[in-house]
Amino acid sequence: MIYSRIAGTGSYLPAKIITNQDLEKLVDTTDEWIRTRTGIERRHVAAEGETTVDLAEHAARRAIEAAGIAPAEIDFIAFGTTTPDLVFPNCGTLLQQRLGCRGVPAFSLETACAGFMYALSIADKYVRCGEARRALVIGAETLSRITDWSDRATAVLFADGAGAVVLEAAASPGVLSTHLHSDGEYKDLLYCGSGVSKGFDAKLAISMTGSEVFKIAVTKLGQVVDETLSANGLERSSLDWLVPHQANIRIIQATARKLEIPMERVIVTVQDHGNTSAASVPMALDVAVREGRIRRGELLLLEAFGGGFTWGSALVRY
Ligand code: UT7
Repeated sequence: MIYSRIAGTGSYLPAKIITNQDLEKLVDTTDEWIRTRTGIERRHVAAEGETTVDLAEHAARRAIEAAGIAPAEIDFIAFGTTTPDLVFPNCGTLLQQRLGCRGVPAFSLETACAGFMYALSIADKYVRCGEARRALVIGAETLSRITDWSDRATAVLFADGAGAVVLEAAASPGVLSTHLHSDGEYKDLLYCGSGVSKGFDAKLAISMTGSEVFKIAVTKLGQVVDETLSANGLERSSLDWLVPHQANIRIIQATARKLEIPMERVIVTVQDHGNTSAASVPMALDVAVREGRIRRGELLLLEAFGGGFTWGSALVRY
């Protein structure tokens, strides 16, 4: 049997930081409201002209270096993003050209905050079936470009960043299972109304009915973590770490309660990163790996939920 294992992780945050105090000057909000309702203290946003692929390239090179391989050894690229540089070529292909792994399959997919979970699941399947040996999996966003900075309901939440992992073929897992879901019934609760076929309008930004999204996120994430554990015949107590989507500290706490996992075993970066959609899980993973908290051999549950709705999870032996 061939499995995939995480050989290296990387992440990148653009230099510019916007604090809650900065936002107090932009919209009718307070640092206290943002901290207590979301857990966010600051977020990073891309500089003018800095794109999703620019951020992704930094994260990818760090993950490739951590894996101890050369960029040319990557033979598959799956790139989750909702904020691509261009309509086409896709971000995966743009990144492939920069890394110099020419000719390998590369694509991007747009499943919002679950983009990394979808990309990881697909890359894992390609490695398992022997068609890829070293897959680069990316989650990267410049959500600041589709955020209405005068709308306090969303401006305080979203941010930019990139995370990456290199998956490598291995004799033992690695990725134990992935679980993906979507339900377009909820499309009006979280969306960006601008598009190519429907009509491009740069004025249309992210729109979210936050309290409804919150409730459904807690329910669906609770279900998907149960599904993940039962698919592997595991008890909650087997988990070493929860690496959740970083949308709101209260959603993270609710999922941790469901798993009966103490917050000391939950990776939380929302205070520094804000909600970076597809980038959030791989960035949190990389932070924890580089801080030495997540160690080789430990069992991780990764999960994300977002617009669509789309959601998913992965159980990973690091
Ligand atoms: O990553 C994709 C998935 N996204 C999520 O998972 C996000 C899910 N939703 C959330 O995280 C939360 O619903 C929010 C953080 C967006 C909002 O928190 P909430 O506790 O659900 O607040 P709310 O929308 O029910 O609003 C409560 C109050 C309202 O005022 P009134 O009607 O009670 O007077 C809002 O107008 O808070 C007000 N409010 C704000 N006040 C200060 C809403 N946004 C702000 C703000 N600053 N930025």
